[in-house]
Amino acid sequence: MPLDIERIRELRPENKIHYFQTIDSTMTEAARLAGLNAPHGSVVLADEQTAGIGRLGRSWQSPAGLGIYCSILLRLPLAPSGLPIASLVLGLATAEAIQNSTQLACDLRWPNDVLINEKKVAGILTHLVDACVVAGIGINVNHTSLASDLRTPATSLRIESNARAQSREHIVVNLLESVGSFCSMLKTEGPAAILRAFSSASTYAINRRVIIEENGLRGVTAGLDDNGFLLVRSDSGQVERLAAGGIRPEG
Ligand code: BTN
Repeated sequence: MPLDIERIRELRPENKIHYFQTIDSTMTEAARLAGLNAPHGSVVLADEQTAGIGRLGRSWQSPAGLGIYCSILLRLPLAPSGLPIASLVLGLATAEAIQNSTQLACDLRWPNDVLINEKKVAGILTHLVDACVVAGIGINVNHTSLASDLRTPATSLRIESNARAQSREHIVVNLLESVGSFCSMLKTEGPAAILRAFSSASTYAINRRVIIEENGLRGVTAGLDDNGFLLVRSDSGQVERLAAGGIRPEG
């Protein structure tokens, strides 16, 4: 069934929602709107993407009627170097929205993979377009099977809730609400509050054995620095400071 966009609009009058039944990628349209000075909280939402973009040059499977594919424009009080903090904000908001909508417990893997039972259920991409953060969020909702690559096993909310179909409208509404409240937290309490929230929501933030994707080094996570970069104490004893890329669990 296509998204009930009118229901979402009714429940989220705060967000200007641009809806597409099919689009190549919501990121492209959101970047265009950012360039036209569209306001904070503008959303591009699609029922299907034909060329969904993932992190690190990967693609994002976006079949019709099954997932949530959206990009949100965020005009935040951050310097360009604050983009990693914005990424953490989005991960926190997505995990909270999923938990509130489905009661499924989520974990966060730096920078912003959302996991359930160690499998990826949502991914986030952040781009900066003229001083505007374009945040792309993809959530696997009602997929009954997913192509997983061996590095990142994937799952859906439906698979994790004993085949119970989930309301995408309900999750989108909760997502926009949670994004709003974590952005307010950033504005009123500052980046330190986001770093604390992420560290307590993520089992990967500290004392977790991981492999750094970019160079294959193994080590133990050692928390986040003030910019939201992940520190990993490698087995050689050196502390690596990850600004981009990702990690995966060892073994
Ligand atoms: C990742 O690789 O983990 C990030 C995936 C981000 C996917 C979302 S779906 C909505 C938005 N549009 C895209 O083309 N990508 C993002």
